[in-house]
Amino acid sequence: MVTQVERRVRTHSWGKISEEHEELVAQAGRILRRNDMGGWTRAAPWLYPHQWSWDSAFIAVGLAHLDTRRAAQELRTLFAHQWKTGKVPHIVFNPKAPPHSYYPGADHWACAAASPDAPLAPPYTSCLCQPPVHAIAVLRIWQAAEREDEKARAEATEFLREIYPRLLAWHRYLATFRDPERSGLVTIYHPWASGTDNSPRWDGALAAVEIGEMSTYPRYDLQHVAEPSERPASTEYDRYLWLVKLIKRAGCDERAIYRSHPFLVKDVLFSAILVAANDALLEIAEVVEASDEERELVEGWAGRGRKGLEKCWDEKLNLCLDYDLRADKPLRARTVAGFAAPLIAGRQSLERLAALLSELDSPAFAGHPNLRWPLPPSTSPKERGFDPRSYWRGPTWPVINWLLWYSLLQAGEAERAELIRRAALDQISSNGFAEYFEPFTGEPLGSNSQSWTAAVVLDWLLSDPLRKPQSKRSE
Ligand code: DGY
Repeated sequence: MVTQVERRVRTHSWGKISEEHEELVAQAGRILRRNDMGGWTRAAPWLYPHQWSWDSAFIAVGLAHLDTRRAAQELRTLFAHQWKTGKVPHIVFNPKAPPHSYYPGADHWACAAASPDAPLAPPYTSCLCQPPVHAIAVLRIWQAAEREDEKARAEATEFLREIYPRLLAWHRYLATFRDPERSGLVTIYHPWASGTDNSPRWDGALAAVEIGEMSTYPRYDLQHVAEPSERPASTEYDRYLWLVKLIKRAGCDERAIYRSHPFLVKDVLFSAILVAANDALLEIAEVVEASDEERELVEGWAGRGRKGLEKCWDEKLNLCLDYDLRADKPLRARTVAGFAAPLIAGRQSLERLAALLSELDSPAFAGHPNLRWPLPPSTSPKERGFDPRSYWRGPTWPVINWLLWYSLLQAGEAERAELIRRAALDQISSNGFAEYFEPFTGEPLGSNSQSWTAAVVLDWLLSDPLRKPQSKRSE
């Protein structure tokens, strides 16, 4: 892969990148090569030895610049474990992961395989899911292949034909099982499904969960970080595992979970990513010449999503808020998820976009005077639950910066997007390929050699900056 990286840098047709950036590209390529398990990539070498769903999608975005075929394989492997309902599981467990490396692992989730909807096991999967970045990644692979030779383009077209029905089934699952109210918003049953596990977004809804009888459990994750404070607290883990127990007790049956589960939340970040992914799916539908009926269906999902997100706007906070279905009220917390709409979902009023962008630039986020780099902390320093070292309670995350950068480009905000890209690259080139960073000191936290951090660096440095956004996504 290193040779491919070198070739990629040398054949980079749209201008030379600096030596420092060349080195960063080489390092990113080495990380992805070391984490390559043959057809799929572990999210990180020690802390996350399995295949995670949204990590894999971001990884494919990066791999697309090194080897479009390998990038396609990453998603092919993940989608091979798609459930019969269309769900893409949040983890596919690696049978060869070292013992005692991750909890809850395959044994804990093995019972999910008994569900009539589960794929063949082993390998086992969890029965949760994660934000659907996959169609965006597939489109990125297609775009990268378009710049290569005839053979790469033909192979990528073939891949799009193969993956399109699977993506459609995945989005259909989210639009139906996860949105029986037809609100346009996706329901999650577990903070792990949001990808932003211990964000203060979930504090209110989690506080209402009463924990019953539970056995003790190991915290293997704490062995892999410098300080336990970088990971979720044990009070949070108790609730995470209690919720898993309830999901298993409901036989992983979606309808049963919906009826009885104490944590039922409409997640705005997840929903906005789905809207952006539906936009990407429409472009894929064009390439594979899908039927008009299917295109209308996808357009309908995207439109419904935007409408649903519009209702989550909070005038006072200038942000989008999640909604707690059990308590029947919004979850008020100032976090990066608040940029879900109109920024990530796109195509909404310019007035709201302007309000949201001024929030992004304000001292509540990227304009805070004490930040090491002007990048938005995952939780606003002005929020009560803010903690600069703890996972999603404050640190800055490269993948979130990528998502904001990508969405700003789509919204025609190229200058703002470029500020994020430069600051994020500087952060990683100064302090390494960490999972997340302390926002005031820039200290790398969580895992190092994190695959998706390497992947977004490759996309930032090797994607064509002159390429027009795929569609004008704000009105
Ligand atoms: C973890 O283990 O921290 C993951 O986010 C759960 O999927």
